Amino acid sequence: MTFERDVVIVGGGGRVGLPLGIAFAMRGLSVTLYDINAAVVEKVNAGQLPFAEAGAAEPLAEAVSSGRLRASTDPASVSGAENVIVVVGTPVDDHLNPDLHVVPRAVEKLAQFLTPGQLLVLRSTVHPGVTALTEKTLAQLGLVVEVAFCPERIAEGHAMTELFDLPQIVAGRTEGASERAEKLFRHLTNQVVRVSPEEAELAKLFTNTWRYLKFATANQFWMMANDAGLDFARVRMAITQDYPRAADLPMPGFAAGPCLFKDTMQLAAFNKNNFVLGHSAMLINEGLPLYLVSRLEQRFDLASMNVGILGMAFKGGSDDIRESLAFKLRKLLQVKAHSVRCADPYVTDPRLVTQEEVLESADLLIIGAPHKPYRDLVAEQPIVDMWGIRGEGVLV
Ligand SMILES: NC(=O)c1ccc[n+]([C@@H]2O[C@H](COP(=O)([O-])OP(=O)(O)OC[C@H]3O[C@@H](n4cnc5c(N)ncnc54)[C@H](O)[C@@H]3O)[C@@H](O)[C@H]2O)c1
Repeated sequence: MTFERDVVIVGGGGRVGLPLGIAFAMRGLSVTLYDINAAVVEKVNAGQLPFAEAGAAEPLAEAVSSGRLRASTDPASVSGAENVIVVVGTPVDDHLNPDLHVVPRAVEKLAQFLTPGQLLVLRSTVHPGVTALTEKTLAQLGLVVEVAFCPERIAEGHAMTELFDLPQIVAGRTEGASERAEKLFRHLTNQVVRVSPEEAELAKLFTNTWRYLKFATANQFWMMANDAGLDFARVRMAITQDYPRAADLPMPGFAAGPCLFKDTMQLAAFNKNNFVLGHSAMLINEGLPLYLVSRLEQRFDLASMNVGILGMAFKGGSDDIRESLAFKLRKLLQVKAHSVRCADPYVTDPRLVTQEEVLESADLLIIGAPHKPYRDLVAEQPIVDMWGIRGEGVLV
């Protein structure tokens, strides 16, 4: 069986799919990005990034102009590629339940375009069992395609280095599927870790949950120290200085974004909602804006103040506002403060104003995302920096 393209990425216009497609194209593979988002597809085909990703703009433009990379909204484009990688979004619902059928449904919709001899690689972060469920769906449709689960572990903003530097977990259902998936990802990295699909599904959830727990620990420590009138930045310095065993204790900050929280909830659902540690982490991290506002209420007469939030992305240097806790902070302050205005140099959003407008009107500034330009921002107003990026401590 010969195929006209090497790879098609389903969800290829997304934060994970697009950098992955660019990376394969950089290594000489022919890549189609299939996505239902027509605006994104149009932008990519014009050689433009639909969102910020460091180091991706140039190789994207180059790959599009050479024809190695193209995007399409046509599901039929899936039939022409040897490897079909599925990396659609896998959110939890309003009740924090994962939808185990998102990936099987996406595959089912493409059933008529799947071709014998293709390798189907699942790459979304999924509730354990979704690979098996997808295989069941394929079997019920009478489709014979090999399946592997190969989770994505990059952090947004670092994809163009991490896709080549991080080991790739490869989990084929059969030895043949593992070999094919390994061959594919060896175009990007020499480091491959082989496990079973179920082990890989859990490995990915544990990876994100571990990070979420660490942030929650730092945030709880910060609140404890803060309530005792102590600067956690100094306490942390004492803990970590020349003490490698504690070197990974983070600074406090909003632990948010589209992955860590929802993947911790996916893991909780997998464990029949019996995950005290994960749920506690959720309460701590999601409660941080509430704690911050209650501390500020003690220090300031918020009701008479115009408050400015600087930085609305979910993390520093990012333009991604998905699940950003800076917006939860904004919502709380809309009730508690006289007014609240928000700015972010990287984010385009109708709810935001310019930094100049924020600085003009605010009596108090809060850093909502630790963007580098805020490190030495000079302002007349007090600046609340729970992240400690200004080196002035984190006592609030
Ligand atoms: N964002 C990250 O940093 C990151 C890192 C590792 C893993 N992940 C995981 O990767 C997956 C994708 O995350 P993302 O941040 O790229 O999401 P995203 O929303 O940016 O991208 C998903 C893309 O899939 C498209 N899509 C949705 N349904 C489709 C369908 N049926 N057919 C074709 N296209 C479809 C959407 O239009 C979108 O462009 C999730 O499971 C996420 O947990 C994300």
